[in-house]
Amino acid sequence: MPQTYFTTPIYYVNGDPHLGSAYTMIITDTLARYYRARGWETFYLTGTDEHGNKVAEAAAQAGVSPKEFTDRVSASFRAAWDVCDITYDHFIRTTDPYHIQYVQEFLTKVYEAGDIEFRSYGGLYCVGCERFYTPKELRDGKCPDHLTEPKYIEEENYFFLMSKYQERLLKHIEANPDFIRPEGFKNEVIGMLRDENLGDLCISRPKSRLTWGIELPFDQRYVTYVWFDALINYISGLKYKGEDVYEKFWPVAQHIIGKDILKPHGVFWPTMLMSAGLPLYKHLNVHGFWTVEGQKMSKSLGNVISPLEMKEKIGLDAFRYFLLRESVFGQDADFRQENLINRYNGDLANNLGNLVSRTLSMQDRYFKGVVQPLSSPIPNIDAHLRVSVARAISEVEEHVGNLALNRALESVFRATNEANKYITETAPFTLAKDQAQMPRVGAVLHNLLEALRITAQLLLPFLPETSSKLLTLLNLPKEQWNNYGLPWGQAFAVGHQVQKSQALFPRLSAEG
Ligand code: ME8
Ligand code: MG
Repeated sequence: MPQTYFTTPIYYVNGDPHLGSAYTMIITDTLARYYRARGWETFYLTGTDEHGNKVAEAAAQAGVSPKEFTDRVSASFRAAWDVCDITYDHFIRTTDPYHIQYVQEFLTKVYEAGDIEFRSYGGLYCVGCERFYTPKELRDGKCPDHLTEPKYIEEENYFFLMSKYQERLLKHIEANPDFIRPEGFKNEVIGMLRDENLGDLCISRPKSRLTWGIELPFDQRYVTYVWFDALINYISGLKYKGEDVYEKFWPVAQHIIGKDILKPHGVFWPTMLMSAGLPLYKHLNVHGFWTVEGQKMSKSLGNVISPLEMKEKIGLDAFRYFLLRESVFGQDADFRQENLINRYNGDLANNLGNLVSRTLSMQDRYFKGVVQPLSSPIPNIDAHLRVSVARAISEVEEHVGNLALNRALESVFRATNEANKYITETAPFTLAKDQAQMPRVGAVLHNLLEALRITAQLLLPFLPETSSKLLTLLNLPKEQWNNYGLPWGQAFAVGHQVQKSQALFPRLSAEG
């Protein structure tokens, strides 16, 4: 059985789940569901990143201890993903004892490899990013992410000799062109690695300044830099489940991240792995950023989109559909109310929704839901529909392999559109006026049920709730739900009973 392993970033607990983190979760969930459905052994890891200054500050502001604060926020992240029906296999917290222990083992390996040095350093530090910036990396003297001025800090610290592995990583990326994808981000990392001043990574924080972290195993006056701690979750989360789980999944690891954290994942992490003598991950998949009505999402602008609110308003599947259909993996996207309504009404209500309601209503009206035989020989128009649906199957496979989830959805909805056209062209409602034509009406509807069946099977990883409903309406036995290779005409025996239509997507009005 083939294996695959997907990870999301572990989120800082100084915020709440929002459109951005939900997007990463939904992409990863769709991929995990897709590979699981195809029989791959799949592991999906997510969690929360709980150490560091930012969290300590947020806890202080909330007037509670960091431990109390992180327990609370981490639980709320986990609950939100559960409500969103995200099918992660394990939820890791960087405050979990097994993680802390493994981080210390990892640090010991790097230390023993001679890759950690103690020295004095002064530099510009951004608390928001939890890292030092070189002047060149700043924009108008400010952190490009937080738009705040970093503080000058000078102190003695431990440094990971990252630049020792700079050349080796560059060679690895050149030899494995899909190590980081899409290509633009690969090139960005190559640019960082060609920079002669990549430098070394400060991996400690003195306890005099910060205590909320994992103690260095070789100097108890210090805690570990939050990124050095956090990245290791991708391995500790597997080790915790057993050495065999690690052996099985680590070599096929695929990280899914937003472009904001490209450098830690594209440069810090692989060089850390090299130093610890561990194999590198298989792919780093980098997605773009969402804005809302053209603006950066922020608490101060009050434009933060909550996945839980979206679930209330339009349903989880419509939210998933919009995010996956409206973005190109690796590129930025804009969340616009107007586009959301158009996609919902156009694709979900009109295209898919109508196909379902017309097919099942006619099946009920003309045959009390009982499936009729197909036409033999196969008329051209029926063969054409089969071909359109078969094309969707192969296109979905191709596009998911390239992370082009938007194009996979586009392919499925092209097929449902063809099925709607097939209704118009065969006009079963007109044929049904003539009793002699009823066998043909039954055959047309059987073809439509097959088109719906395969559509629902293909959409299962993308729109799990809708697809499950649809497959239930079709009375397809559950063990066949993922069997989209079931040949046309073999899913429903003559005499099989399907259910009455249900409105899957009530139309939305502009007021939302
Ligand atoms: O960086 N559009 O956590 P974080 C798309 N703890 N995705 C977005 C987004 C947006 N507008 N905003 C956030 C951290 N994201 C570290 C990670 S991993 C070892 C440690 C998503 O809470 C996107 O996946 O700041 C981004 O990479 C992540 O949230 C950052 O989450
Ligand atoms: Mg962030």
